Amino acid sequence: TYVIGADCIDELDRSCIDVCPVDCIYEGDRKSYINPDECIDCGACEVECPVSAISVDRLARTIPEKAVHLEDARTFFDTVLPGRAEPIGKPGGAGRYGEIGVDTPLVAAFDG
Ligand code: F3S
Repeated sequence: TYVIGADCIDELDRSCIDVCPVDCIYEGDRKSYINPDECIDCGACEVECPVSAISVDRLARTIPEKAVHLEDARTFFDTVLPGRAEPIGKPGGAGRYGEIGVDTPLVAAFDG
């Protein structure tokens, strides 16, 4: 998978969302999140991001401040929104969720 790091927070450019061929980039309140269960590793988003916030997981694991967002994406996609039975991303397809308006505790508390 690919992962969106802290540089996206409060930037939320959305170029990545427009280019993702499988619609697996979900829009939180301050940041977007890639669903690791849907990402097909095409890399289209990485080159599109104007702040270079996106990296492949193999690389992200070697950089602690990026690695934390790999774990954090799991937290995001474990979140069950009010009124829903399943967590975000089940069923898949970011388009059906639109602007979710929710972040993980890590991102919500980010003060960079
Ligand atoms: Fe989409 Fe980026 Fe993965 S464009 S398929 S989230 S590598």
